[in-house]
Amino acid sequence: HADDIVYARSLIRTIQDYPRPGVAFRDITPLLADGRAMHATAQELLAQMPVSFDVVAGIEARGFIFAGAVAALAKTGMIPLRKAGKLPKPAYRLTYAKEYGEDQLEVSPDLKPGMRVLLIDDILATGGSLKAGADLVAAVGAEVTGIGVVLELQGLGGRSVMPQTRALFSM
Ligand code: HPA
Repeated sequence: HADDIVYARSLIRTIQDYPRPGVAFRDITPLLADGRAMHATAQELLAQMPVSFDVVAGIEARGFIFAGAVAALAKTGMIPLRKAGKLPKPAYRLTYAKEYGEDQLEVSPDLKPGMRVLLIDDILATGGSLKAGADLVAAVGAEVTGIGVVLELQGLGGRSVMPQTRALFSM
């Protein structure tokens, strides 16, 4: 599988000067579009996580993709942590500060107190949304037993905000 993971990493595309001049944007859509890369990425994400969890939670929007894939491999359920206003029956809402203003994350009543949760997102950047996801899971009374991302972006401070995060790739 080692070469499959190297291959998956090679599919992450860098777009210079997006969304602003000077930014090197890491675009994971070529990895998503490739069957071998997607399967290897989901398998490796799962392999890096603790064995004991009841459910996989994914953060909107790109976290859903990998959380769903990992949950299918692990034969567990998947719980979406959604931006405010999307769920018909939110049980908990967490407000958190962003660079400009604040944002909200909500979860349905399917996440129960005591559940052991694997928290998944695509990218660790500043750590803001992963921290909000972890805080929301804790607010429900569930337990985050593992945090995983596909790609960690260096130099944005996410590692110090969420030091327990396991990242497949780092750029
Ligand atoms: N790619 C994808 N998402 C991001 C990035 C990036 O380079 N930086 C912050 N969020």
